[in-house]
Amino acid sequence: MSISIPFNRPCLAGNEYKYIAEAIANGHASGDGPFTRRCHELLEKELGVPKALLTTSCTHALEMAAILLDCGPGDEVILPSFTFVSTANAFALRGAKIVFADIRPDTLNLDERLLESLLTERTKAIVPVHYAGVACEMDAICKIARQHGTRVVEDNAHGLLARYRDRYTGTFGSLATQSFHETKNVHCGEGGALIVNDPGLVERALIIREKGTNRSQFFRGQVDKYTWVDIGSSYLPSDLLAAFLLAQLEGRAEIQRRRQRIWKSYQGNLCEWAQARGIRLPVVPEHCEQAYHMFYLILPSLSYRQALIAHLKAQGILSVFHYVPLHCSEMGRKCAARETACPTTEDLSSRLLRLPFYNDLSETDLARVADAVKAFEFRN
Ligand SMILES: Cc1ncc(COP(=O)(O)O)c(C=O)c1O
Repeated sequence: MSISIPFNRPCLAGNEYKYIAEAIANGHASGDGPFTRRCHELLEKELGVPKALLTTSCTHALEMAAILLDCGPGDEVILPSFTFVSTANAFALRGAKIVFADIRPDTLNLDERLLESLLTERTKAIVPVHYAGVACEMDAICKIARQHGTRVVEDNAHGLLARYRDRYTGTFGSLATQSFHETKNVHCGEGGALIVNDPGLVERALIIREKGTNRSQFFRGQVDKYTWVDIGSSYLPSDLLAAFLLAQLEGRAEIQRRRQRIWKSYQGNLCEWAQARGIRLPVVPEHCEQAYHMFYLILPSLSYRQALIAHLKAQGILSVFHYVPLHCSEMGRKCAARETACPTTEDLSSRLLRLPFYNDLSETDLARVADAVKAFEFRN
């Protein structure tokens, strides 16, 4: 059977074609043109941060963070095993070793209660990931980081516009990274941003993003020629992508409204069914305002999950699992500072299933997915 309800569908907010046409007419197709500037201003104003810099991906924003913090051989970086490869790879690229932390069983976020036991004098940074756009326990994480003189880099790939105690995620760490990949709430196909919360890191971030040159100082008239002053790479996206992204960012309120409706509909529709079967739905603590990025189920077993994926697929519905624990991967083993136990990660990652979730998911299709899930009978 062909898939009629995909897992994700990149949606438009309204002004994408118009802005891209304007960007083409502007004659500035490379990076840091007028649309990039407008995206920066919008993000800085909305989040209340000193500097937001568009990047070609969240992966690249994480790589910039690793360079900015001078991560290298002899350093350790603590991050959850339950995350995307890039969270770890960005630091491994610089030669730092990774300390894989287990996750909390409720939010699936880095378990802050384990941090004290994982920190050493070599810890350069803690990288919490706000999984599914539900905030990590930032009070505890920032306090521990402060006490140990280590930096926090928030991987906020899922969490644009989520809040922790009324403050946006991505505004707690020295640095934070956003993703605008097509699977995210707000997207431009491939894209990201580095949020620089520590004003002392802004100038160097601009240099690293521009191939290690002081080109942005030259454009600001601060130097009369630009030259190679640091390491860096080409991390800035084309202004055509920024034009697409601006349309999405401006449409953020409507995007969030639609996604909230989808999330609440799944929850309302599935909570009794789930309770009766020992199936868990996402947990959002009282003090967290989530980003409505995804809806997942924690099923009783791996075989239950495989059978439910097949059952939904037979009805044209695509559901997917998520991260494979990094500490068990070939590269994760090579990059680990030492072996750490992550039993909750191993258990929950094998039982988690994500349901179709995109802005244009219609009421009819939403009901079709929920009905198909509820009609599932597991036979061992
Ligand atoms: C937690 C996390 N960090 C980083 C990334 C990488 O994002 P990008 O595709 O924008 O590089 C992802 C991808 O989905 C992710 O889930």
